[in-house]
Amino acid sequence: MSEVQWKPEYELGVVTMDDTHREFIDLLNRLEQCPPAEALERFDALLDHTVAHFWQEDVWMDKSDFPPLYCHRGEHERVLDVLKEVRRLIAAGDEGIILTLLRELPLWFDNHAATMDAALAGHIERTGFVAERISAEAAPA
Ligand SMILES: [Fe+2]
Repeated sequence: MSEVQWKPEYELGVVTMDDTHREFIDLLNRLEQCPPAEALERFDALLDHTVAHFWQEDVWMDKSDFPPLYCHRGEHERVLDVLKEVRRLIAAGDEGIILTLLRELPLWFDNHAATMDAALAGHIERTGFVAERISAEAAPA
């Protein structure tokens, strides 16, 4: 499995969003590079980040009256459901699921960034909404 590379097209022009996406890619790569004994700990770091990352976008969509809010939020919920199931499988000893995740999650992100996140970034730029960093502690548990 090779490292996920940051691509120029991931740069959507909203600094807080781009920074959060860089952190997501970095945590994916840390999971990819870790020894099996650290997999659960690294996965939890990725999961915690993703909960906060999606919550931040959900709040921005809500506050900026983003029209396709429910579609975008629904996709976040589905991905979090998958990640929670993957966590259950890793904790049960299925380490192979990490390889599947590391193959599939970057493909999902490619598509999500190019469509839903790009639409949100365009909306933020057009409306002048200030997309501030939202603390991870504010995200639902
Ligand atoms: Fe998103």
